[in-house]
Amino acid sequence: MKSVFFTGKGGVGKSSLSAAAGWQLAEKGKRVLVTSFDPAHNLGDIFGEKLSHAIRRYKKTSLFLQETDLEQSAKAYLKSSMGVLEEVYSYTKAFNMDKYFKILRYSPGVEEYAALVAMEHLFREEGKKFDYTVIDTPPTGLTLRILALPKVTLAWLERLVEIRREILDKRHTIHLITGKYDEKGTKLPYSEEEDTVMRKLKEMQNRYEKVLSYLTSEDNNIALVCNPDFLSLRESQRLLTGAKELGLPMRTLFLNKVEDQNEDIAKRVEEILTTDLPNASVKRVPLLRHDAPACYIMDTDITDALGLSP
Ligand SMILES: Nc1ncnc2c1ncn2[C@@H]1O[C@H](COP(=O)(O)OP(=O)(O)O)[C@@H](O)[C@H]1O
Ligand SMILES: [Mg+2]
Repeated sequence: MKSVFFTGKGGVGKSSLSAAAGWQLAEKGKRVLVTSFDPAHNLGDIFGEKLSHAIRRYKKTSLFLQETDLEQSAKAYLKSSMGVLEEVYSYTKAFNMDKYFKILRYSPGVEEYAALVAMEHLFREEGKKFDYTVIDTPPTGLTLRILALPKVTLAWLERLVEIRREILDKRHTIHLITGKYDEKGTKLPYSEEEDTVMRKLKEMQNRYEKVLSYLTSEDNNIALVCNPDFLSLRESQRLLTGAKELGLPMRTLFLNKVEDQNEDIAKRVEEILTTDLPNASVKRVPLLRHDAPACYIMDTDITDALGLSP
């Protein structure tokens, strides 16, 4: 499975180019999934289809479409976290977890975590059924936070594993002094393999390490979409810096909506961005004159610039 994320400022053409990439790859006989991670989806509008969280085949082609429902993903994420809590700490059963659940849905960061969960699931399960997965992303800030999450989560998990190890060590000491059982006669495990919390932490580490190693691998590409204008250039530079800091491969620069009138600016923007991205393929996509909804059908082949070996 190869993946490409289309990133860039709002309105530069991420969704249109995601759709075009998906359509063109499918025309070349590839099995492709185009999935939108933008809470304000418009993939469905582009293809003139009603889309949802469930992956759906586009007409009778090898192109499949999905609008990831982050709300649904957030609920699934919180439910599973609650499940883990209840399983590990039996006293939490006494709380009314539903009450917390309702508030937690509105907590900061939940949307990002929901996207991380959806992304992890995509790479581990759904994506494997396709030759290519094209990901249409939300605005820059959210996209960078989502892409940073595997690393951030792993840093937290590392610390949590250390803390848990200290707890288990103390338990072991207590066990040596008092014997195996606590006052209720229940056995408290002190080996890492037997401890449920430690097992869960390691399971999560394993999952997010896989996501991170996939994101930074040869099979993935972060394509940058830019227009020949100053604001989209500035935002592209922020994305570029973010991707560099996170060690993410940015191999393609799409200069979209180029026409005779902005040709000079396009050249300048290209020069500036390729100074920081010397090895990226650059593809110019002309400003299309035909009606917007069908803009995925274009003469310019953009698949050769995707930076992913076939
Ligand atoms: N090459 C192009 N030529 C003409 N219009 C375009 C082109 N690319 C995108 N558009 C139009 O620009 C608008 C924003 O595009 P969209 O793909 O929704 O951007 P984003 O997903 O980055 O917000 C839409 O109206 C779309 O039809
Ligand atoms: Mg969009």
